[in-house]
Amino acid sequence: MSTPTEESNSAAQAASAAQAASGAQTGSITAELSADHVRINKLWEDTLAALAREDFAAVHSRSKEFIAAARRHLEAENDLLFPAIEAKTGLTDSGPTWAMRQEHHEIERMLKGLDALPTVQERWTAIQAVEGQPIDPSALLRSHQGKEEAVLYPMADRLLGADAARDLVARIRSIRN
Ligand SMILES: [Fe+2]
Ligand SMILES: [Fe+2]
Repeated sequence: MSTPTEESNSAAQAASAAQAASGAQTGSITAELSADHVRINKLWEDTLAALAREDFAAVHSRSKEFIAAARRHLEAENDLLFPAIEAKTGLTDSGPTWAMRQEHHEIERMLKGLDALPTVQERWTAIQAVEGQPIDPSALLRSHQGKEEAVLYPMADRLLGADAARDLVARIRSIRN
């Protein structure tokens, strides 16, 4: 379960992501994907809050949306963003996208561990799904997203240039909707 400190950390992260997104050029990769992080994190916080008050209908709907949104985000990065960066850097077996792909495997394992949440019927099973993770899901997401927002996304915007970045954002939106 999240503690007050974690809640204030995640609120601070949402504020800094929102700031990064508002500071980034409209239509940029940084703005688009940082805003998606904020949406994903809100769904996760809503899931934890629903679990804390044992509102299982809300646990089911929020967690289902969270898992789907997080998987779509990983897919957009793996299949669209990272190849676009790799085409510029020529680095696929090392470098920043390689490191982020490794972290995506960890996040995918975490999401698989949470797959019980959309149908769980009792609190203890839900808590085991959340707390039985090797790394706390909130901390795992925060650490990964922080690196992308501070380093990878601004690098992608610089490498691609504004026009190609806008095209990429349009393609990301088309697979998300
Ligand atoms: Fe990522
Ligand atoms: Fe991301």
